[in-house]
Amino acid sequence: MLEFINEILNKFKEKISTAQDNGELNAVRVEFLGKNGAVTELMKKLKDMPADKKPELGKHINQLKMNVENAIRERQSMLKAKEIREKLQKERIDISLPSSRGIGSLHPVTLVKNEIIDIFLGMGFSIEDGPEIETDYYCFQALNIPADHPAREMQDTFYVSDNIVLRTHTSPMQVRTMEKKKPPIRIICPGKVYRSDDDATHSPMFQQIEGLLVDKNVTLCDLKGVLELFAKSLFDSSTQVRFRPSYFPFTEPSVEIDVTCAMCHGKGCRLCKNTGWIEILGAGIVNPIVLETSGINSKEYKGFAFGCGIERIAMIKYGIPDMRMLFENDVRFLGQFAKL
Ligand code: PHE
Repeated sequence: MLEFINEILNKFKEKISTAQDNGELNAVRVEFLGKNGAVTELMKKLKDMPADKKPELGKHINQLKMNVENAIRERQSMLKAKEIREKLQKERIDISLPSSRGIGSLHPVTLVKNEIIDIFLGMGFSIEDGPEIETDYYCFQALNIPADHPAREMQDTFYVSDNIVLRTHTSPMQVRTMEKKKPPIRIICPGKVYRSDDDATHSPMFQQIEGLLVDKNVTLCDLKGVLELFAKSLFDSSTQVRFRPSYFPFTEPSVEIDVTCAMCHGKGCRLCKNTGWIEILGAGIVNPIVLETSGINSKEYKGFAFGCGIERIAMIKYGIPDMRMLFENDVRFLGQFAKL
């Protein structure tokens, strides 16, 4: 009997070692542990054995059964592991293959615009948005630029019709905001503007950011403080700011603001044409005529306003020599500004 048990065990070992998948393994299980399986048969035979041999034989048969069960379980997990290994091998992705599609990035003008917006939001300004197709009234008249005023020549205008223009600046948003909001007002307005101008430093479409603050007792010192902080945040903390007298019909007094050159820090280079200074924006105290036209009492309130070209700031910040590079969409150029 013992020999018979061993024989079954050997036969089982041989079969199980050749089972290659779950199906084959199952067949082996049925053959040995099934209802009519060899091990089951053996257990049935036990009751016909002489009583004194039963305990001993029973032990061996149980041992056999346990061995068979364990071996099947082991084989099963081995086959499972093999299956996973094969699957991984088959579905492997070659991550060393270069991807044919590059990752996009924000345009340098957008990067600079976002940076400027962040600085002013940090100072408590909020954002206003308005139309790019504008009436002559908001673009010029309400800003104290009457029809025959020479300042109209400063901004070569695209006319849609006699009274409708593509806005030449974001300043109309000063009037639109003052008409609908009561002071204190603290807004910026980023947006596209249009002028019939096209060379290395001018483009027919470009972007500006307008700023307007209206409150009691606003002075030129407030303007200076805000714009100095702006310049130091945008370039670096060593940046110096210079105010030069200028003229805009909608501000009085008017100033133009220069910063020390971002490239040479004031020593003089190609970017600043050896002057050490670069003009970044126009500004001034809001002309009382404009306040009154917009429905604000100029005896009670004062304001300051400023407007700057975003492309110009981007050129200064990144040392871009020609504004047209910003519009050519050459990815080799644009990709340099990607922030990963
Ligand atoms: N609108 C002016 C321009 O486009 C800039 C400016 C804005 C000047 C606000 C003063 C105050 O040149």
